[in-house]
Amino acid sequence: MKLIYTALVATVFAAPVFADSHSAGDIAAGEKNFRKCKACHAIVDDAGEVIQKGGKTGPNLFNVVGRQAGSAEGFKYGKSLVEAGENGLIWDEATLAAYMTNPVDFLRETLDDSKAKSKMSFKLRKGGEDVAAYLASVSPAASEATGDAEAPATE
Ligand code: HEC
Repeated sequence: MKLIYTALVATVFAAPVFADSHSAGDIAAGEKNFRKCKACHAIVDDAGEVIQKGGKTGPNLFNVVGRQAGSAEGFKYGKSLVEAGENGLIWDEATLAAYMTNPVDFLRETLDDSKAKSKMSFKLRKGGEDVAAYLASVSPAASEATGDAEAPATE
């Protein structure tokens, strides 16, 4: 039991360090595929610089990796996604890829609730891992947490 635990801890702590180089997805392919998301999502950094011009039907996806699900400021989410976040869902590449492939199924499984609903009606049939890798590349807070950032966090 103890051995299993140790292995688990090691995996959990090792994974983010290698998130950039060992990511399952292809960032460039994901950036291209992001055009499918732009009808509803923009990527705008904290300084207001537009990385991807997009619609406002969905939340800003800047810094989404490492963010609690359903927590972008000023966006009115559906109940299920907020609940998933309150239950501890922090987006990473794997959960993002699963979510964008089928948001309703993802929320139903995550919440173990067959009535969970999603306000995102879009499904990305393939290439989710690539888009997730691209979103990680525009999530500086996540790489700061793993020590990849150039400047240390000051807060
Ligand atoms: C037709 C509009 C639409 C399209 C297209 C769309 N989304 Fe969304 N997306 C939404 C809406 C609306 C929400 C809020 C869902 C909710 O509250 O249940 C959302 C939520 C999300 C979230 C959760 C963010 C958070 O803050 O928790 C992610 C991640 C996301 N979308 C990624 C994508 C990606 C990647 C694509 C392209 C592959 C995409 N979406 C395409 C409308 C869209």
